[in-house]
Amino acid sequence: MSPSKPVLTLAPGGRRINLYDLHGQKNRLGEDLDRRMGAVLQHGQFILGPEVDELERRLASFAGVDHAIAVSSGRDALMIAMMAMGVGRGDAVFVPGFTFAATGGAVVSVGATPVFVDVDPVSFAMDPDDLDKAMTEVRNEGRLVPRVAMPVDLYGLPADYAALTAVAEKHGATILADAAQSFGGRSGNQRVGALAPITATSFYPTKPLGCYGDGGAILTSDPALAESIRAIRSHGRAGDGDEATVLGLTGRLDTLQAAVLLAKLDVFEAELKRRHEIAACYDAALGDLVTVPVIPDDQASAFALYTVRVRHRDKVRDLLDERGIGTGVFYRLALHQHPAFRAYATRALPHSVALAADVLSLPLHADLADDEVDRVIAAVRAAVPAAAE
Ligand SMILES: Cc1ncc(COP(=O)(O)O)c(C=O)c1O
Repeated sequence: MSPSKPVLTLAPGGRRINLYDLHGQKNRLGEDLDRRMGAVLQHGQFILGPEVDELERRLASFAGVDHAIAVSSGRDALMIAMMAMGVGRGDAVFVPGFTFAATGGAVVSVGATPVFVDVDPVSFAMDPDDLDKAMTEVRNEGRLVPRVAMPVDLYGLPADYAALTAVAEKHGATILADAAQSFGGRSGNQRVGALAPITATSFYPTKPLGCYGDGGAILTSDPALAESIRAIRSHGRAGDGDEATVLGLTGRLDTLQAAVLLAKLDVFEAELKRRHEIAACYDAALGDLVTVPVIPDDQASAFALYTVRVRHRDKVRDLLDERGIGTGVFYRLALHQHPAFRAYATRALPHSVALAADVLSLPLHADLADDEVDRVIAAVRAAVPAAAE
């Protein structure tokens, strides 16, 4: 087949299947969303209204931690967490080489230095052995203090927190989890939020639990950290006082977004279950053709994304697009390859670079119907061999 003449075409009358579909969920939850948002418009407490308190209680209880603090975005959650931990100039924060730019950006924003650690090629999360190497290198060089390891639960699967914590503690550092993609995931009998002393998540609209704008949360069972985070997200003011006790920012989740999230939390478990069902269908139907996600028996992914590794990725993607199947590439570059982070590209990250060349995310969301799952599978089964020709 010539590259300019793909054999795959959109089935007649076939509706396009997008990577995400927020409309299906909005139609399903419409009345509840309207009621909850209407209540906010009525009472008018748009900042730190009662829905924010209710959401925080429910998030903490869902995750099994003492405190959830709702904030303005996932990136702000990371920044505010580091500010509360006193991370800044002279500190090394270890981040995976394969993640969204916000992970590294938050570190630079608090004045600390990101040190990139390679990822495990199977779990896609920070490799504990390379973390050990990187922390040893930093300590030997003596210019920076290893303060924080910030694993990312890529695509929704929790990182290996037991192994990463052991390494971090050996070097006197602590863990801040970037769980932007994994709220709803689990390791053993602990949910994301309870796997690290402090966890940041995102409610960006396309996340498994997403609002209709920007939003995020920080989860912890440390009361002093929680109090500090509450002050920092609100201009550094403690409680109702006017006095800025610490440096803060405008980092609150607004009440309308909290109302949206409350409606979505009611159906979150059921939606996660549907995500798992679809992932199992893809695993069974595509496992012989592409590298499907490996989820250890004692873990559950939140499946923010269902990501396979495939040769000729960009060609496969074009062929799927022609057949009406939307896909995504997260990410086309390893973190140190972005112009904004080249100054911190001090270490070799072969697995991060390799992943950037072959990852492809397929449609997966709770409103994907069985016949749509079948169409995605059929299209992938046709596109992969066609792309290799
Ligand atoms: C791994 C990771 N970290 C941080 C963020 C930042 O979250 P937000 O977009 O809510 O700022 C994202 C968002 O996509 C992410 O995927």
